[in-house]
Amino acid sequence: MLATIDRVEGEMMAEIGSTPDLARLDELRVALLGKKGRVTDLVKGVSSLPPAERPAAGQAFNELKRSLEAALLERRTALAEAALEARLLAERIDVTLPARPRDGGRIHPVSQVTDELTAIFADMGFMVAEGPDIENDFHNFTALNFPPSHPAREMHDTFFLEARQDGEPLLLRTHTSTIQVRHMMANKPPYRIIAPGRTYRCDSDATHTPMFHQVEGLVIDRRTHMGHLKGCLIDFVRAYFERDDITARFRPSFFPFTEPSAEMDIGCRRTKEEIVVGEGTDWLEILGCGMVHPNVLRAVGLDPAEWQGFAFGMGIDRIAMLKYGMPDLRPFFDADLAWLHHYGFVPLDLPTTFSGLSR
Ligand code: PHE
Repeated sequence: MLATIDRVEGEMMAEIGSTPDLARLDELRVALLGKKGRVTDLVKGVSSLPPAERPAAGQAFNELKRSLEAALLERRTALAEAALEARLLAERIDVTLPARPRDGGRIHPVSQVTDELTAIFADMGFMVAEGPDIENDFHNFTALNFPPSHPAREMHDTFFLEARQDGEPLLLRTHTSTIQVRHMMANKPPYRIIAPGRTYRCDSDATHTPMFHQVEGLVIDRRTHMGHLKGCLIDFVRAYFERDDITARFRPSFFPFTEPSAEMDIGCRRTKEEIVVGEGTDWLEILGCGMVHPNVLRAVGLDPAEWQGFAFGMGIDRIAMLKYGMPDLRPFFDADLAWLHHYGFVPLDLPTTFSGLSR
């Protein structure tokens, strides 16, 4: 009996070693060790041996099973590794091939303009801050000095969401000013940030969509004043529209979170078909701004006697339309490939202030 075991062990090991793939290996395992397998069959012969020989035979079979199982596992690992290797080889991508942007996708104008304005403000020492689209009343209104039940809260046509389980009402942020609040609460002054992001208002026509994009700016330091605000924003529009002769004016306005507040207009020429920035005698409003209200500073735990500065908020889609001449905002969000091909930008052509923003 022991001699037989020795012989079949040799044969079975050889079979395992030469199985070509995982499926066959599975079949072989059943054929050897399964309920009706060859080893199981042989084990049955133990009962017909003289009692004195049975313990040794039984032990030999146990060892046989153990070494077969070990060999099966080893073969399985080797086959799995080989299969993975073959697959990786078959799916290999040559990353050294040059990009072929002409027949590929396009960068959406909103992404492009976000990159452009980020490059401009980064040059002026601003860092980018972010915040969530889903907000609460505190960050969207209360901390920004909107009095309770003040009509300004309705002015924003807020989308309210179902309240959270703990009863806290939630909403989609109506402006990126929420990020001012979050940034000031989480960091120590001074601040110099921009915060581009999605914003939401219940509104829809050729120049308004329920979801749109804004960029917020915030500068807080010990001696920041309105002159800095004007210089910064005039520099920005000239860099962005790539013309040094753009004229600007600041009109008094109202926002609960700034005092004084202003709207910035830039000089333009309007014809029936288009608006040309930097020429003519018309004015075009492009952003809201002002000196951060002392109540906002208090709400985030700063002493207004020590810290002050300015903030501004600007529609990204709007300045994209102005610079690149789209007449209607709605197609921005239609995912229409023809539109994207026409108005989109070639990938890998990142805007920088030194290489040119928009080539
Ligand atoms: N949050 C304002 C808006 O959405 C814009 C703004 C931002 C105005 C910061 C002043 C200061 O209309």
